[in-house]
Amino acid sequence: METKLRIAFQKKGRLNEGSIRLLSDCGVSITNDNGKLISSAPNFPVEVLFLRDDDIPQYVADGVTDTGFVGLNEVLEKKFPVDVVENLGFSKCRMSLAIPKNEEYIDVNYFNNKRIATSYPNILNDFLKENNIHAEIHEISGSVEISTGIGLADAIFDIVSSGSTLFSNSLKEVEVILKSEAVLIAQKNLSGEKRKILDDLLFRIRSVKQARNNKYILLNAPNNKLKEIVKILPGMKSPTILPLAEEGWSSLHSVVNENDFWHIIGKLKDLGAQGILVVPIEKMII
Ligand code: PRP
Ligand code: ZN
Repeated sequence: METKLRIAFQKKGRLNEGSIRLLSDCGVSITNDNGKLISSAPNFPVEVLFLRDDDIPQYVADGVTDTGFVGLNEVLEKKFPVDVVENLGFSKCRMSLAIPKNEEYIDVNYFNNKRIATSYPNILNDFLKENNIHAEIHEISGSVEISTGIGLADAIFDIVSSGSTLFSNSLKEVEVILKSEAVLIAQKNLSGEKRKILDDLLFRIRSVKQARNNKYILLNAPNNKLKEIVKILPGMKSPTILPLAEEGWSSLHSVVNENDFWHIIGKLKDLGAQGILVVPIEKMII
């Protein structure tokens, strides 16, 4: 029988869609139709199990599944012995303390003798200990943001992404305790064949991540500005420069990192660049 790498995905929720899209961008097609909880890819030796995300770290630690795509928050909360192999670059969020928006807040001592509702008691407990805060942790499994409004707690500790759940519940974020995103976790001591499949998959994932973080740009520039423009355009080695039919002008092609993007575009325009085209990159192998 063919060896397959087992990957656990979140069954339903924010991580599910990002996980399926990442595999699909890696050329591995998985469907999650008709509530089927296990699915194989026709074109790559993996088998995906759809689970509740808070169960994934334990299933990986126990070897029920070899790997999983899960929020770092769940991994840190559950503390099971698993390897965090790769950040996956989606489902980015923060884990924060929030209080009713009209309360005055100076510093973390605010939380002394307060009741804090959360689904992440371990992470919260570690934070409170480090800061010498004595607070009562009230563990609940969902709808945490409701608890201040109904008198169950004075504050909450939960995931914040857009911030709209806090806003809708008249809460304000006052301390960011950690940043989280989807990560790939793996069982410790993964065996030869499975390790090899995981390495193949990781190679693809890294190419897709690189591509998502970069844009391909094409532009026309006057030849007398080429030197200055080349200085600000990195490119994979250096930018490609081709002469245009119009005398005195060239076309430049380059790859720009998302973080520097607007800054670089601004400078290019100042140097007289025209007809700037920005194109998404599908895969990037360096
Ligand atoms: C998460 C989290 C917050 C909300 C934050 O809940 O627990 O409630 O998302 O997102 P926002 O800042 O974009 O509003 P989720 O919808 O995953 O449901 P759950 O709490 O029932 O797990
Ligand atoms: Zn929630």
